[in-house]
Amino acid sequence: MKNKRDFILDLFQNRYTCKGYDPEKKVSDEDFMTIMEAARLSPSSMGYEPWKFILLNNEGIKKKIRPYSWGAEKAIDGASHLVIILSRTAKDMKYDSDYLKYITREIQNFPEDLAAKRTAKFKSFQEDDFKLFENEGALYDWTRMQTYIPLTNMLTAAAILGVDSTPIEGFNIEKVEKVLVEEGVYDPKHFGIASMISFGYKNREHREKTRRPMDEVLKIVD
Ligand SMILES: Cc1cc2nc3c(=O)[nH]c(=O)nc-3n(C[C@H](O)[C@H](O)[C@H](O)COP(=O)(O)O)c2cc1C
Repeated sequence: MKNKRDFILDLFQNRYTCKGYDPEKKVSDEDFMTIMEAARLSPSSMGYEPWKFILLNNEGIKKKIRPYSWGAEKAIDGASHLVIILSRTAKDMKYDSDYLKYITREIQNFPEDLAAKRTAKFKSFQEDDFKLFENEGALYDWTRMQTYIPLTNMLTAAAILGVDSTPIEGFNIEKVEKVLVEEGVYDPKHFGIASMISFGYKNREHREKTRRPMDEVLKIVD
């Protein structure tokens, strides 16, 4: 195997946002499910996993969101897989919510006394440390930010497998949410849309990668 440093650098140098997909080429189920495992295993604050992923195969629904998804038109038209990344609502992420009770006890298997301690810690984190109740939207914004971790892990996992991908925020969130809720894709009491991501195989070459130099990006304080 290649030197691990070279492997990492090659991988990130060669991961590109795919700007056009070959509609004939499909990502295998095994590759897709491996990418989804990378999402599922992603870290989150306190391990609360404030996300859900929708694999949108329904062509009728894709057609309905396409007019509001300028950044996803090429992905919707040609990609093999389109995934909508949902974020938990503020109500579900408040320290004393039913969802957090469920995950602490049923998923993380904390006994009652430890679960209560974690809830108290999370309350002071949300109230005092991060001040997530001080303005409307702060708690949801904080939650939604975490969904970029599985998004990023999916991009990297796809690149390792040689699958092309596109992270997508180029859509009108209100309009796409309206369509998906009307179609019964998710319950808005528990989720909102954070972003989308598509997978497939490119049908054109990428622009050369451009990035600021390291000395502009990294400041070392001794
Ligand atoms: C959060 C996020 C949202 C993005 N939204 C879109 C999008 O809607 N459509 C698109 O074609 N590219 C989108 N991009 C891709 C960026 O334009 C791309 O990552 C950037 O230009 C760097 O290019 P590279 O990914 O090829 O290195 C998005 C990227 C990120 C991280």
